[in-house]
This record gives sequence, C-alpha cells and structure tokens, in this order.
Amino acid sequence: MEFSNSKTKENLARAFAAECQAGARYQFMAKDAKQNQLNYISTILKQLAKNEMAHAKTFYQYIIDNDKSKNGNINIEAGYPFKQSELATSLKAAAEVEEYESTNIYPAFAKVAKDEGFSDIAKTFLLVAEVEKTHAQKLSALAQMYAKKSLYKSSEAKQFVCSNCGHTETKKAAWQTCPLCDYPQGYVQIDLGQ
Ligand SMILES: [Fe+2]
Ligand SMILES: [Fe+2]
Repeated sequence: MEFSNSKTKENLARAFAAECQAGARYQFMAKDAKQNQLNYISTILKQLAKNEMAHAKTFYQYIIDNDKSKNGNINIEAGYPFKQSELATSLKAAAEVEEYESTNIYPAFAKVAKDEGFSDIAKTFLLVAEVEKTHAQKLSALAQMYAKKSLYKSSEAKQFVCSNCGHTETKKAAWQTCPLCDYPQGYVQIDLGQ
C-alpha cells in the first residue's frame, strides 16, 4: 500500500491533531491549577502536556518521512472534545478521553496500519496507547482525590514530601506551610499510586 493513499496517513494526521489538543488542554489545566495554588498538580499536568507533544511530534514525523505526495494539506474529519478547563470537571473528562484513546482509537489505528503494511507505525500506535493508559490512571486518581478533597490527607499515616525542598513527614495530613522552606501546601507531592 502506497503511504500517500493510505488510511494510516489520515489516521496519523488525526492522531497528531488529537495529541496537540491534549497537550494544549493540559497546559490550560496546569495554568488553572497554578492559579488555585495547586502547584504540584500543575507540575503533573505540564509533564502530561510534554508527553502529548512528544506523541504529536512522532506522528507528525511519520507523515513528513513517508508522504511522497508532498501536496501539503491533509484533510481530516474527526470529533474532538471541547470541555471546561476548570480542574473539578476537566480531570475526570481528560481521564475518560485518555481511556478511550488507549482502549479504542489507537489499537484500531494500529490494526489498520498493520493491515496496510506499516508495522513500525502500528507498533508506535500501540506504544502510545500504553502511555495513554497510564495517563488515564493518573488523571482518574487525581480526579478522585480532588473530588474527595483528599489530596493532602489520608486515613492512614503516610509520607508527605515537599516538592520544593524535599522535607518529609509521615502523618495523616500534610502541613499548610512547609516547616522547612515555607512553601504552601500546593507544593506537597501527590502520590498517584503508580
Ligand atoms: Fe498522547
Ligand atoms: Fe495522554
């Protein structure tokens, strides 16, 4: 199958668009978290945004390297999510998108790529699906803790670490202000259980 006429080319373009948008949404959410003094959540979201941009780059590069038609534009038709960027709702929505990508979209794109004879691209779709699965787990853990207001407390004593200075205490609730560096609670590391 000639890449230029393949469904895989179109799927790569759709995947690229989806990854760019996920990267943008996570940056919006990171900003929202920071404005709400949730600095560590902001750091997590920025890391996820970085992952999405790396996925976007990989998909983009496949098109650049393989498309001999070089006619520039690729027309795609796809539905993309436009959801509220406030944290309360967006964490859960993002987890659902990640889950859907990892269990439905990317495995399906991988199958098409394999059938069309692009085994490297098929493999990449599956590798990205694995990452999106971890994103889904992290975002869903975060969404639950956020909703239950249990970001900084625990029924059992557990270790809290300041992401700024490394100060550590094992107890049921984190400090309001770090006793070592005075940074606020939002800098306390959040354990997503991975
Ligand atoms: Fe991604
Ligand atoms: Fe992701």
